[in-house]
Amino acid sequence: MIAEKTPSTVTVEDYLRRASERVNEALDRFLPSEQDRPGDLHKSERYSIFAGGKRLRPALCLAAYEACGGRGDGALSAACALEMVHTFSLIHDDLPCMDDDDFRRGRPTNHKVFGEAMAVLAGDALLVQAFELVAREGNAACALTLAESLGSKGMLGGQVMDILSEGKSVGLETVEFIHLHKTAALIAGSLVMGAQMANAADSTVKELREFGIKIGLGFQIVDDCLDLEQTTETLGKDAKSDLAKGKATYPSVMGLDASKNKARELIDGAVAQLRALPIDGTVLESMARYIITRVN
Ligand code: IPE
Ligand code: IPE
Ligand code: MG
Ligand code: MG
Ligand code: MG
Repeated sequence: MIAEKTPSTVTVEDYLRRASERVNEALDRFLPSEQDRPGDLHKSERYSIFAGGKRLRPALCLAAYEACGGRGDGALSAACALEMVHTFSLIHDDLPCMDDDDFRRGRPTNHKVFGEAMAVLAGDALLVQAFELVAREGNAACALTLAESLGSKGMLGGQVMDILSEGKSVGLETVEFIHLHKTAALIAGSLVMGAQMANAADSTVKELREFGIKIGLGFQIVDDCLDLEQTTETLGKDAKSDLAKGKATYPSVMGLDASKNKARELIDGAVAQLRALPIDGTVLESMARYIITRVN
């Protein structure tokens, strides 16, 4: 175990709260109003975006930007784009043809309220609007990072393997592939986009990507454990959903205790790597640790 470093002045909860406020305010400006046609679509998008959510990916993007010397709102549009694509992924992930879940972010899932067709379209709209935002206010490097994080060699590839592995007995190599792609790719992309918006050196971008992959894998392992151990109320989404669907998870392959140890090792490794970087990683370190202590 690496000793805790005392965070400077802000706790991770404070940082996440402040990041959420900034991101929510900006998302409200960026997303079309419910009064704009087609109002049903815009209402459906806003329903899922403003349902809550930890805002971890935008917060990681903002923290990486600041750690690399960025100041002010220079990474805010990239952070919003990340939350838009993440919310798209959740809306589609919950559909009956995917994980078939009824509850998300403390409310009925998007398709339960707006119907499947509108849920598919709201997810599509969020994905497209995210790229529109990066094209308008970000830069080409960021757009490429976002596309690569989400594509068939990123999140989508992971989601494909997740679905194909349902009900099968898979090994560690497969479940690691799934988690690295469906979750770690976008978490790593969040850090990379923040660093890119701050014009960080290529070597720093590369190191932050590696850091992101480790904490991203840790994040999904913890998600698997929470699915088994927490209540639907605490999670804000259906507990024991993975069991019901026969999902390939770390606990299903190596058991709960070994999974928790693996997540802890990944976070420790990520923190050690971060400390060797020529940046102030205090906030990023607290966020990495929060990933294993969180309860939802
Ligand atoms: C849920 O992500 C999907 C996974 C990759 C496990 P989060 O746990 O970040 O969900 P929200 O954004 O807080 O709702
Ligand atoms: C989600 O994995 C990964 C995504 C790309 C959305 P899960 O299916 O485990 O996420 P939850 O548990 O439904 O949030
Ligand atoms: Mg899923
Ligand atoms: Mg799911
Ligand atoms: Mg899950």
